Amino acid sequence: MKSSIKIVAGNASRPLAEAIAAYLEKPLALCLVRRFADMEIFVELQENVRGEDVFIVQSTSFPANDHLMELLIMIDAARRSSARRITAVVPYFGYARQDRRTSGRTPISAKLVANLITEAGADRVMTLDLHAGQIQGFFDIPTDNLFAAPVMVRDIKERLDPVDRMVVSPDVGGVVRARALAKRIDAPLAIVDKRRERPGESEVMNIIGEVEGRSCILVDDIVDSGGTLVNAAEALLAQGAKDVYAYITHGVLSGGAVSRIAASKLKELVITDSIQPTAAVKLARNIRVATIAPLLGEAIGRTADESSVSSLFA
Ligand code: R5P
Repeated sequence: MKSSIKIVAGNASRPLAEAIAAYLEKPLALCLVRRFADMEIFVELQENVRGEDVFIVQSTSFPANDHLMELLIMIDAARRSSARRITAVVPYFGYARQDRRTSGRTPISAKLVANLITEAGADRVMTLDLHAGQIQGFFDIPTDNLFAAPVMVRDIKERLDPVDRMVVSPDVGGVVRARALAKRIDAPLAIVDKRRERPGESEVMNIIGEVEGRSCILVDDIVDSGGTLVNAAEALLAQGAKDVYAYITHGVLSGGAVSRIAASKLKELVITDSIQPTAAVKLARNIRVATIAPLLGEAIGRTADESSVSSLFA
């Protein structure tokens, strides 16, 4: 069955797509993506995909709009080339943080992006650690939201002493995610509770849980500016934590985030390659990248074989 898989790489995720293709023992499908002089994107699939099960791997990471447009055009190219089925594999789903109206006269951009991907011609979506699981419901096509947890759990078990490790959610909103990881490694859970007591006063970080002498593992879906992470690490160390690690799926790492993290007291930040790491990330003294290529490769193979994907996470 796997013989009919075609893996197509977008520019946001080429090394990851190569690693996925290697896992599946398939070559990447030949696909030309280039720009016209006015920066319009042009895509040409350079091999036959008629009747094939096509997986287009493209995170909508920085520059988000270019990578999103490229994904849409690649889907359109595959649809017009008579692919049997098209799966948009979007390891990092940009715009996910705009999943609700936060005030009047604002958009729900995550829903708009879901509509665009569907309208372009995707039959399925495969993504990873969606910022909010409910975004799956923004699609009316099958959507697999995979979890990087098995990769994180393996890494944590290999490196951190089970005796004193403790999982910490960096904010109240992340408790469900952190609790799930704590359960998998059989560790206790603490929570950083950020509060602004009065308008104009700075935020106070309260720690719920006894972290003294513990190796704390901060767990989150996204590290963007690094502010949440660095502040949480400081608060934990101030409460007597032995050291602080972080396992975060998507290394958005905008602006000065890499230097902020390198200058922080964080012992190590582990991210995945859902977003292609920059040279600065690769050189940072305390950032390490764990690959999710085998996990995605396995999920793609199982999708092609019509076998269970959820059992990967049981
Ligand atoms: C928020 O809800 C997310 O889960 C992350 O905590 C947030 O996006 C991290 O952002 P930053 O690194 O800019 O503090």
